[in-house]
Amino acid sequence: MNYDNKIGTRVVRGLDFSPESVDKARSENKMLVLDMDFTTKCNLRCFYCDRSPDINEKQKEEITLSERKDVIFQANRLGAWAVGILGAGEPMLDPAFWELIEYIDSLNMVPLLYTSGWEIKSIDTVKELFDHNVSIMLKYNTEKEFLADKMVGVKGYGSHVKTVMKWLLAAGFNKSTPTRLAINVVATKNTLDEDEFLNLFIWCRENNIYMHGQSLIPSGKADNIQFTLNKTEAVSLLQKGQQIDQERYGFNYSIVPPIIGGFRCRKVNVGMFINAYGEVWDCNGSGRKLGSFPELTLEEIWNSNKAKKVREPLQEGFCHIRESWWGNIDNGWKM
Ligand SMILES: C[S@@+](CC[C@H](N)C(=O)[O-])C[C@H]1O[C@@H](n2cnc3c(N)ncnc32)[C@H](O)[C@@H]1O
Ligand code: SF4
Repeated sequence: MNYDNKIGTRVVRGLDFSPESVDKARSENKMLVLDMDFTTKCNLRCFYCDRSPDINEKQKEEITLSERKDVIFQANRLGAWAVGILGAGEPMLDPAFWELIEYIDSLNMVPLLYTSGWEIKSIDTVKELFDHNVSIMLKYNTEKEFLADKMVGVKGYGSHVKTVMKWLLAAGFNKSTPTRLAINVVATKNTLDEDEFLNLFIWCRENNIYMHGQSLIPSGKADNIQFTLNKTEAVSLLQKGQQIDQERYGFNYSIVPPIIGGFRCRKVNVGMFINAYGEVWDCNGSGRKLGSFPELTLEEIWNSNKAKKVREPLQEGFCHIRESWWGNIDNGWKM
């Protein structure tokens, strides 16, 4: 399976599904993770945002707070022990953010929060997140403040996010195994500084932080060849990370695009994604819609023929949306 368990322990809590746990869940028809959007509002304007269609949606109605709790409860009953809070906008802007975090925590599920950090205004907020067992996936594309500002389209962001990082480290998010601290780094064609990207990777390895470093999901604003790496470029970057891992840390694995560091996404096999409008998909980047809540229960969607068919092939890192996009526009490196 080409999986190194030393890598598994380095993946952030909430994304750390071992191949063994995935096999077991599959044999028992269990779900392990629910990915979910909170609000669709956002105060930043990232030029590469894959979620812009949901953020700009004007027609659809969002599901209610009690429906959202019901979805989480149902996922828990189906076996899920983690909730990935992905977006579509900035989850911390959701008026029910803390109520939902408390609810997830009360079910002993791990809330894995994807956040820009822009709404974290004090170390007290960081401590509160820590006390609610939250794992953090912080947007941290670069340490160059001018570039970070440019990427999100808002002045002052680059300096702010560095302060947030200091608070997270001070609160001890990186003190456990697996770690509770991750950074999300996108490699885009027009902003990538390869040396910095790889230095961030090393810094994360040295500080027990998981780096979710990747080429863009080609959706929303990123469905654009001017921003999004082709497969040859994406693979070359991952190979450099692989070499660092081998030489410095003795980690051996074969790479599977798009994530650096030997990580293989398995969410399609053991999870589902629900957006703010109740639409359920196999993954937040994919075009494979499985059903709609509350018209159908989560269990009905999970057990539908379409969902079963989509999660049948072992994912092992394979990214359906990127591969389709690369297949259409790029004849470069092939697996
Ligand atoms: C969609 S955002 C939502 C949460 C929050 N607003 C944030 O930006 O962290 C979740 C993560 O996806 C990343 N992201 C946005 N667009 C992307 C794309 N086209 N491909 C890959 N990741 C992307 C963001 O940088 C962020 O780390
Ligand atoms: S990536 Fe996150 S912060 Fe940036 S525009 Fe999209 S939702 Fe907002």
